Amino acid sequence: MSHQITQDQEERLVQAALAGLSRSYAPYSHFHVSAALLCGDGTIYTGNNIENAAYSATVCAERCAFFQAVGAGKRDFAAIAVCGGRDGAAEDFCPPCGVCRQVMREFCGPDFRILLAKENGEQRSYTLAELLPESFGPDNLG
Ligand code: THU
Repeated sequence: MSHQITQDQEERLVQAALAGLSRSYAPYSHFHVSAALLCGDGTIYTGNNIENAAYSATVCAERCAFFQAVGAGKRDFAAIAVCGGRDGAAEDFCPPCGVCRQVMREFCGPDFRILLAKENGEQRSYTLAELLPESFGPDNLG
């Protein structure tokens, strides 16, 4: 399903992502990431990266947000805002990793919006189709 996102929703989403940086658990990389996911019904779920001493058990912020939302029964998503940086300073854009893009692909259509935000107010906006072209998804399994 395609969604129209208002300016107000976009601003609230970015603010929620920036505010969530303080909840990042990143004692190994010291790279803090936060995400805020806007559901089709207007609700917002946040997530932050959660690292682990066994490094591969680490979960990214974006997947944390998706799993919180999907675990609460949400299946329809409009947009996600992502920010991050060393020691929680969102001075550069922090694009989602490939695994997180694939998790988005599981639940979202090609027009799903991905907003990258910096703490100085700069933003970039992409669709999922732009960040994950020629993708493999549930429809490929028939
Ligand atoms: N990280 C995320 O949370 N999201 C991404 O899309 C990229 C990377 C986290 C994982 C790890 O805790 C830290 O950033 C450094 O890779």
